[in-house]
Amino acid sequence: MFHNVHKEKRSDRKYLYIQTFGCQMNVSDSDKIRTLLTGEGYETTNDAENADLILINTCSIREKAAQKVYSQLGRFRMLKERNPKLILAMGGCLAQQWGPKIFIRAPYLDVVFGTHNIHRLPEFIREVEKNRSPVVETGFNPSVKSLDIMAVPEEGAGSAYVTIMQGCNNFCSYCVVPYLRGPEESRPVQDILGEVKKLAGHGIVEIVLLGQNVNSYGKAIDGNFGFPHLLQAIGRVEGIERIRFTTSHPRDLSEDLMRCFAEVDTLCEHIHLPVQSGSDDVLRRMNRGYTCAQYLKKVEGLRHYRPDISITSDIIVGFPGETEIDFQATLALMEAVQFDNLFSFKYSEREGTAAVGFDRQVPEKVKGQRLQQLQALQEKHTQARNRILEGRVAEVLVEGKSKNSENDMTGRTRSNKIVNFRGAHELSRKTVSVMIKKAYLHSLRGEMVKGVGDLCSSR
Ligand code: 5AD
Ligand code: SF4
Repeated sequence: MFHNVHKEKRSDRKYLYIQTFGCQMNVSDSDKIRTLLTGEGYETTNDAENADLILINTCSIREKAAQKVYSQLGRFRMLKERNPKLILAMGGCLAQQWGPKIFIRAPYLDVVFGTHNIHRLPEFIREVEKNRSPVVETGFNPSVKSLDIMAVPEEGAGSAYVTIMQGCNNFCSYCVVPYLRGPEESRPVQDILGEVKKLAGHGIVEIVLLGQNVNSYGKAIDGNFGFPHLLQAIGRVEGIERIRFTTSHPRDLSEDLMRCFAEVDTLCEHIHLPVQSGSDDVLRRMNRGYTCAQYLKKVEGLRHYRPDISITSDIIVGFPGETEIDFQATLALMEAVQFDNLFSFKYSEREGTAAVGFDRQVPEKVKGQRLQQLQALQEKHTQARNRILEGRVAEVLVEGKSKNSENDMTGRTRSNKIVNFRGAHELSRKTVSVMIKKAYLHSLRGEMVKGVGDLCSSR
């Protein structure tokens, strides 16, 4: 069932400004919020100064992410001082974590809503519009109602997120997510397929399936319908040319799922598979549930089914007790895998997590040095992996105009690499063949191949 969003717009115009921090799940939640508030008569603006409602969708995964939110709140406070009618709302993980305590830091907020209460936002906003007194709701529900809100895609969009599960039962010792998003919950398959079909009807050609750990999709649902079955079913939806998913826990990456990379044509050959560390001792204390050798075995399996698969990962440096030998093991793992890209972070202590009690904290300076060393190595690997594509023709889904040049278009390969090339604006949402001429660190440069019509689908 989809949420019933009111269609009629009120005559008086009200403007909504949303700022989103953090992961794709937050980006997707913001899309849902936009759809919900359109039903309340709000129109999106890119200008915070002009807004009647400012909503800040927050992240708390690392201290740095939280700090960014605090500094942004300060800016919005000034806008509120100038315009007392302005409504300030805060959602996401930081709102969930702080609850009413956030008013000590930011007493000027009007609405604070947690990760399980997105669907009630219209009600909260109406309450503030009427009574002008603050509203806080950070309770958990047995079922996350916002899972069923379908964000209406923007005009011309080719790609859309579909949340298939949310929450996490893993409790990695450094991670705050299970406390802020709650336990794992999978959406019924029919609801997901219904949404995918609707999106295809809107002209969406690429679906990105979202969940904290998509690999455990379906575990809590009766029957044997797991993530590989879901991929196969979405693979049969007409109009959907590409499927992606994020994010995956290596422990739950099954042989059946690996096989999907060979068998489901529309499943893109890219996987984000966070490893976090290359040291078995650190992995054990992180409570990750696999060893370095087991991770490498999964990589081998993926490359067996799909030799050209692109593999990206997350790594944390400076976890409590990480020795120089542990760190060297992480670099060795990177050498062994040759990731296409990597997100790397300094360990950041999060309140309430198991690792808070761990001794042997790594000094900030050492964390910084390790991060630098690791990133330098990754740059070499990324360059080398990108260079393999030089001289090859890649299938590129065009996203829109390039930021750098009026005459250029930008898109992505199936392996999730950005490609810039000369082309007409009408190519947006189309799949074209591009000969890769030059590989850079963050993108590829190519030329559209004329006459390879079989790769150029038009919708
Ligand atoms: N400190 C540093 N990095 C973290 N991550 C999660 N929690 C922390 C933390 N406390 C990283 C992990 C995860 C990614 C989304 O964020 O690498 O995969
Ligand atoms: Fe956090 Fe681990 Fe769950 Fe990922 S799997 S959200 S890192 S607890």
